[in-house]
Formats: sequence, structure tokens, C-alpha cells
Amino acid sequence: MKAVQHIAYKEISESIKFSDIEKPSINKNEVLIEAYAASVNPLDIKVLTGKLKMRKNYTLPAKMGYDVSGKIIEKGENVTNFNIGDEVYAYVDKQGAFAEYVSVKQNIVSLKPKNTTFEEAASLPLVSLTATQALRRGKLKAGDKILIHAGSGGVGSVAIQMAKTTGAYVYTTTSTDNVQWVKALGADRVIDYKTEDYKTIVKDADMVLDTLGNKYTEDAFKVIKKGGKVITLVGPVDKETANRMKLNFFARTYLAWKRRKVTKRISEKAAYYSLVLLRPNSRQLNEITKQVESEKIKTNIEKEYPLKDAINAVLHVANGRTKGKVVIKIK
Ligand SMILES: NC(=O)c1ccc[n+]([C@@H]2O[C@H](COP(=O)([O-])OP(=O)(O)OC[C@H]3O[C@@H](n4cnc5c(N)ncnc54)[C@H](OP(=O)(O)O)[C@@H]3O)[C@@H](O)[C@H]2O)c1
Repeated sequence: MKAVQHIAYKEISESIKFSDIEKPSINKNEVLIEAYAASVNPLDIKVLTGKLKMRKNYTLPAKMGYDVSGKIIEKGENVTNFNIGDEVYAYVDKQGAFAEYVSVKQNIVSLKPKNTTFEEAASLPLVSLTATQALRRGKLKAGDKILIHAGSGGVGSVAIQMAKTTGAYVYTTTSTDNVQWVKALGADRVIDYKTEDYKTIVKDADMVLDTLGNKYTEDAFKVIKKGGKVITLVGPVDKETANRMKLNFFARTYLAWKRRKVTKRISEKAAYYSLVLLRPNSRQLNEITKQVESEKIKTNIEKEYPLKDAINAVLHVANGRTKGKVVIKIK
């Protein structure tokens, strides 16, 4: 089958190869999806630049891609939730979505929304599960004020719509060219970071969804109310998460040192701070299917590329300016 592989740790253009590789087989708990579309995420770029390099089970050449949609063409003997021909989508946590066939555990697959194309469906799992898990971590509720950074990005554009459905007041940041586009997603106050300083506009927020990291993580504490929440996707590992990771003393000490500035801000604001690390969750993805079908969430595709041109899709996302999502059309 045709697939995109990660072959080296070099410049992105030299790290990816369009290859002919063996079609995957499935075990008794898996389904084989004939892929119709996939989507690219910044996580794909982080993998290419070494995020998984230290993992023993990550060796090159490796398959790529986390988001897939397609049709089930084979199923293992224990698969009871799906039938051959079902139209599905998934966040494939072990990668492999940039390929003609993808094997996936049945317990992380969901039926795709009926009102989307395969391309639209493939653009949703990773970003919408992340937004769901982040807003739940922060227990966002009606009437809360939330600042969502990078409202024009994959995660931000979905998180805005989910936060509005919850009944929150949404501030978001983006650049001048994207202001109208982000307003149309439902944000109450779009802050143009080229001309405005969000720190002078957002006051006493209940929650910040930090999608940018570094200075943005620390500065989030300036705009939350006392006792507010900073939920990050990219900031330093919080203490609870570090404890859950069962790391050794040295690793925990290093992480505590890395989050020292954040620790100070947490105590100044009596704040809750948490790093979300996305987990596959088909129950949540089923809910997302319903939200899409009831038009509470709409996906936004900036550009589609054919599978053989996946390298340009990845380079597109690597430039950090994606408006919505970049999709790879496979069939
Ligand atoms: N922890 C997890 O489990 C998890 C899960 C998902 C994603 N993430 C991470 O979360 C981050 C965001 O993901 P994503 O998919 O949303 O990324 P993305 O789609 O690539 O984000 C691109 C968007 O970011 C905006 N942007 C860039 N700099 C900005 C700034 N200074 N202020 C406001 N907006 C800015 C750009 O808008 P302009 O062009 O207008 O600047 C662009 O529209 C990534 O680092 C990703 O790896 C983590």
C-alpha cells in the first residue's frame, strides 16, 4: 500500500518519504480502515523533530499521522461494535494515518458524523478530543469567562465553538487577517495580537486555554481571577501529571525546576494549573459526532493535499500559520 513514512531526523523535507509498504494486518480487537482522508497536526512535526526519539518502541522508518477517516473493510473476531462498510474516524494514538489502510483498536474508533465528508471528518478527532479534554479539565461552565489562545488554529477553532455551546464568554487571540474568520466561529471578543495586548483586555478570567506555551503560559496567570484555572497543552508538566508519570527522582526534580516560574504564579493566584496530554477516547468522540451532527461544531479546512503530496501538507502545518486544518485526501 502507499504510505508516508518518517525516515530520518533531518530537515522536514528530507525526513519524510512516500513509500510502498506492507498493508497492516489486524488482531482480534482491531478493525482495518480503508482510509479516505487524514489530517496533519503540529504533533506530526514534533515527532519528525524528535519528540518520540527516546522511546524504545519508536524506530525508523515509522508510519506517520494521527487522524484518519474511512470505511471498515475487515474486523477482528472480538469486534462487536462495528460492521464491514461502516464509515468511521479515529485519533490513531500509535500513528499510521497517512496510508491507504490503517489498523486501529475498535475501542478508539467512532462512526463518523453523517453530515460531513471524509475530509471534514478526518480533520476532527485530535483537535476536538483535545478541546473536549481541556475544557473538561478546567470544568468550564455557563457564564465563565475563558481566554482561548490561537483561535484560528486547529484546537482553538474547535475549542471556541465548544466553549460557546457550554455558555461561556469567549476571548480569543489571532492575527489581523484572521479576525473576521474567528469572529464567525462565535468568539465574543477577538483580540488582534498584532494591534492589541490581550493582557490589558482580559481581566479576571475563569480559565485560560494555553495553546502557545512559554511566556503565554506564565502570562496566563495575569489575566485569571484569584482561584482561576490555566489549562495548557504545551506548558511545563504540572506536579500531579509528573507524579502520575512515575518518573524517577531526577526527572521529577528537573520538571519541578522547569515549572518553577509557573509554580510561583500558581501560588500568587491560588490557581489551578494542569497540562492536558491527549488520550484517545471513543466515548468522547461519539459525543463529538453528535455535536457535529447537530451543527454545534463545524470543522474548517484550509487546504487539502493528495497523499503523494503529504510532504507539502506537513510543511504547511510546520509554518505555524494554519487557519483551521490541513487535510490529506487519500481516496
Ligand atoms: N498536549 C496535547 O495533548 C496537545 C494536543 C493537541 C495540540 N497540542 C499542541 O497545541 C498547540 C496548538 O495546536 P493546534 O493544532 O491548534 O496548532 P495550529 O493549528 O498549528 O495553530 C496555528 C494557529 O496558531 C495561531 N498563532 C500562532 N502564534 C500565535 C500567537 N502568538 N497568538 C495567537 N495565535 C497564534 C496562528 O494564527 P496567526 O497566523 O493568526 O498567528 C494559526 O492560525 C500545538 O503546539 C500542538 O502541538 C497539544
